[in-house]
Amino acid sequence: MLSTRKHRGDKKKKISRTSIPFPLASYETVFADSIQHPERFWAKIAQNITWSKSWKRVLDNTYEPFTKWFLGGELNACYNAVDRHVEAGKGGKVALIYDSPLLGIVRKITYFELQEKVSKLAGLLQRLGVSKGDKVIIYMPLIPETIMAMLAVARIGAVHSVVFGGFAASELCQRIQHAEPKVIIAASCGIEPSRVVNYITELNEAISLSLHKPSKCIIYQRKGVDIAELDPSRDMDWEESIKNAESAPCIPVEANDPLYILYTSGTTGEPKGIIRPIGGYLCTLIYNLKTLYGMNPEDVWWATSDFGWVVGHSFMCYGPLCLGMTTIVYEGKPTTTPDPSSYYRIISDYKVNGVFTVPTAMRLLKQTDPDGKYGTEYDLSSLRQIWLAGEHLDLNTKLWTERMFGVPVINHWWQTETGSAISGMCAGLKNPCSDTDLTVGLPFPGYNVKILRKDGTEADVNELGRIVVKLPLPPGTLSTLYRAEERFIKTYFAKFPGYYDTMDAGYVDKDGLIYVTARADDVINVAGHRLSTLALENIVLSHPDVSMACVISVPDEIKSEVPMCLFVMKDDSELSDYIVAKDLVNMVRDNMGPVAAFRMAAAVRGLPLTRSGKICRKSISDLARNKLKKISGTVVDPTVYKDIEEVLKKYGFCNGLD
Ligand code: COA
Ligand code: AMP
Repeated sequence: MLSTRKHRGDKKKKISRTSIPFPLASYETVFADSIQHPERFWAKIAQNITWSKSWKRVLDNTYEPFTKWFLGGELNACYNAVDRHVEAGKGGKVALIYDSPLLGIVRKITYFELQEKVSKLAGLLQRLGVSKGDKVIIYMPLIPETIMAMLAVARIGAVHSVVFGGFAASELCQRIQHAEPKVIIAASCGIEPSRVVNYITELNEAISLSLHKPSKCIIYQRKGVDIAELDPSRDMDWEESIKNAESAPCIPVEANDPLYILYTSGTTGEPKGIIRPIGGYLCTLIYNLKTLYGMNPEDVWWATSDFGWVVGHSFMCYGPLCLGMTTIVYEGKPTTTPDPSSYYRIISDYKVNGVFTVPTAMRLLKQTDPDGKYGTEYDLSSLRQIWLAGEHLDLNTKLWTERMFGVPVINHWWQTETGSAISGMCAGLKNPCSDTDLTVGLPFPGYNVKILRKDGTEADVNELGRIVVKLPLPPGTLSTLYRAEERFIKTYFAKFPGYYDTMDAGYVDKDGLIYVTARADDVINVAGHRLSTLALENIVLSHPDVSMACVISVPDEIKSEVPMCLFVMKDDSELSDYIVAKDLVNMVRDNMGPVAAFRMAAAVRGLPLTRSGKICRKSISDLARNKLKKISGTVVDPTVYKDIEEVLKKYGFCNGLD
């Protein structure tokens, strides 16, 4: 048995900051330079990627907040992620390692193989009439072909929009209608530990519901599972069709052209289509990997997300490939495929140097295998750091993870909108202070983070307020919302003119370390999945026996928070509360997908309403967390809280209102 874990079971031992194999610049100098001389700063970083035409201006902020970076510059994302490494003689290097314990498959794919497969798929897309600027929706699970599909779309200057496989038909339909894709690329199925998820059924239903119809669907039939039945008038088999496809070359596009649209949850039930500009994004990703994560091209990197989320785009696909690293695609779960040894095994088998995951994954591991027994046999010596983000990190989980994996665990903060970190402790810089236990770190270079009070004035040290970023935002952040420019301005820039509103509340301490405390809107984070409670409410309100409903978040030991619905029955309903509650749970599962983890719905006599008819959701959420101190005088009927309190108590959430 190997005894390679450095700090196993030793609670007191300090985890040393592992040294990075290049000299470290001072964080303060680099950060100041990024804010004071953004053009000079980013122009230097942009040398890390290959441009087919140089830019005319580094920064054009004429129409703020529609900031443009590297104006007039031309490049191709697929060329930067694949072809340039092959041209540099690194075609034989492994670009992707696909490990699927669910199917018992391990595949290593070189940069050369990636180039071959991607250019053929790109040729097929061209043959189907897809050209620069056209949209292609990708509905696929955690397999290498998803990366190939993304890169093939980028290769011909088209725009992809990946839809998470855990979303059901109506969510997919919403995105098809909004993005109006010319072609959809899908896989036959996804594989969850307890079931095979039939993507074709969801796809067929989504297309039949949608007013927009794609001209063709390219279907990747997964091996080792049942073959899906295709519609010959609409569907093409991926493998068959690329056999005689011509290879397509990389088509350069302007730096501010969109690379992708990624839909994310917002304050209203309608998802927002984040547009990502190509040039600044690629620069920033490489800079993040080097400076924040302390990675090099020789390193092996593992982000445990899904291609349907922003981490999948930035740090499973484009970032590590543009840097020429090896990126791991793990189609499995932390504890059930087949047991809690998987994370240790992957790190050991592939000599992983950096891991990026969510706190929920570590909490699951901690719950199932608290002493790390499943990890003892694995050699984790390659690992330098573990990075956590996406949701609140609790101290126990952070310390446990450090102990089990024997490396520093760094909490950092970012959003789909930014595409990469807003803050963290840079492994590639000399930091002026150590991170404290619950901080999300120092502002990443380029992010001029401020804390504002409601009236727009700057908060003092340690004073809670809204976290904002002074404009201009650095390269690679969202350039607008697809087909919703007014919503873009209203959502992010109207409340605090001159700043980007992160919608997160928090504070900054005397060392400049940031603490994120809560979301200020109706977005919740369930196991790192961003969901809108209003979208969930829209689904439950469509039940014919429900007159009023609200969805709030309640705390969860593993997933950080989960949704809960309180509903009021219609007076004339003939159904029992119990049946309706069951219906609501099924409706959310069918309409949004299992990923919402929506399992709690309970009937109440009434909901707290203001005189203008608004439901006081936050007060119920506070009550569930024992944080509601006083009932607001604006609530029309405060007696409804008594009944709500009883329901919350039954679910174990509330000690009672004083
Ligand atoms: N397709 C279909 N169903 C899916 C799915 C997918 N791609 N992903 C999850 N589901 C299903 C699960 O099977 C589960 O179904 P069940 O209710 O029938 O059991 C349900 O959705 C809830 O899944 P989840 O909450 O994700 O739990 P999990 O045990 O499957 O996975 C984690 C746990 C931690 C691995 C997962 O939640 C995760 O990867 N979260 C991080 C997401 C992320 O990367 N966000 C960005 C961070 S910045
Ligand atoms: P997403 O767009 O899915 O990446 O979710 C972004 C939101 O997740 C942020 O606005 C925060 O509310 C939350 N978030 C991300 N990282 C962290 C973190 N390290 N700590 C607390 N919340 C986080």
